[in-house]
Amino acid sequence: MQTMQVDLGDRSYPIYIGENLLSDKELLLKHIRGSQVLVVTNETVAPLYLDRVLNNLSVMKTSHLVLPDGEQYKNLQVLSSIYDKLLNDKHNRTTTLIALGGGVVGDMTGYAAASYQRGVDFIQLPTTLLSQVDSSVGGKTGVNHPLGKNMIGAFHQPRCVLTDCLTLNTLPSRELSAGIAEVIKYGLIADADFFEWLENNIDKLLAKDMTALTYAIEVSCKTKADIVAKDEREGGIRAILNLGHTFGHAIETAQGYGSWLHGEAVAVGMKMAAEFSQQLGWLDSSVVGRLTCLLKQFNLPVESPEGMSADQFMSLMSVDKKVLDGRLRLVLLKHLGEAVVSSDFNNKVLESFLDEQCH
Ligand code: NAD
Ligand code: GLY
Repeated sequence: MQTMQVDLGDRSYPIYIGENLLSDKELLLKHIRGSQVLVVTNETVAPLYLDRVLNNLSVMKTSHLVLPDGEQYKNLQVLSSIYDKLLNDKHNRTTTLIALGGGVVGDMTGYAAASYQRGVDFIQLPTTLLSQVDSSVGGKTGVNHPLGKNMIGAFHQPRCVLTDCLTLNTLPSRELSAGIAEVIKYGLIADADFFEWLENNIDKLLAKDMTALTYAIEVSCKTKADIVAKDEREGGIRAILNLGHTFGHAIETAQGYGSWLHGEAVAVGMKMAAEFSQQLGWLDSSVVGRLTCLLKQFNLPVESPEGMSADQFMSLMSVDKKVLDGRLRLVLLKHLGEAVVSSDFNNKVLESFLDEQCH
């Protein structure tokens, strides 16, 4: 097992990465402070892993809640069912919420923990590649609004992240690829050597070789933990973790939540960000070529959805959380491994770029 720390003063916490960690009772129990626990999961993950987690919690007063599965359920109504469960089962301020599942369950459970009785403990047990490399780390929690992705939320750090890599054995290949998109992101924004490693390990990763997957999870978590430690609440550098997300969130919202997977929308978004960086004269075309090739080899999309217009992009992007005083900022690339957050472009140039991208 690998352990790394997210250094945030009194909100610091460990990320454990290894095999069979879901069955490690002591590891889980040592991060629970009170005697009450609510495990939140969904209808797909529950039959696979819920019993294993509940078995570890036999000494606690434990409830569990099984949510419907899908991005379209990451909303205020389903969030409310978590509060209902907590209140009906009389959970008090020393309760711990445990998120067992992918990013949807993790983001919603985290936000319930951030807001229930003004904040209680929570633990992340991520079971998708995307949640293991990204959403379980860093304390961003929340739900979608019909007009914008992740628009209702809070920063609330977990007590620990416990990643059992073997859960990836049951993950569908489309979901694995969606997670790889966020892994590629780390190479693009911070680590050219890791990008090259990904280029050389495509077959192993797609075949779920555990050594390769574990290495990819470790490098990703280390990169994310370092960035979050520098800028927990995204006043600056943390925004580079959103490479491709401004375009990607627009795609997800326009297509209807759940139609495109988050990682698929991010894949197209990253390619658009790279191409726009190239058009501004900031990025060498060879990087755009390598990225396009890598995304395709991981079976990820590289073109924006058919029928989506430049106006739709501009309108949805105008509510992005990186908009400052009405000015859109984008995460763009200067080199492979170096990202910047910039509003140093003309909106008309962006509009005509989007026109070219839409079909
Ligand atoms: P998800 O949670 O919808 O999970 C994907 C699918 O895999 C679901 O159908 C789920 O039930 C299923 N599943 C989960 N684990 C499984 C397993 N081990 N075996 C079989 N099936 C399994 O999607 P996701 O890709 O994990 O997360 C996407 C969400 O994460 C989005 O809502 C996105 O906004 C959010 N996100 C948040 C952050 C953050 O920093 N908080 C970062 C990136 C993404
Ligand atoms: N996924 C972006 C972040 O955590 O900041």
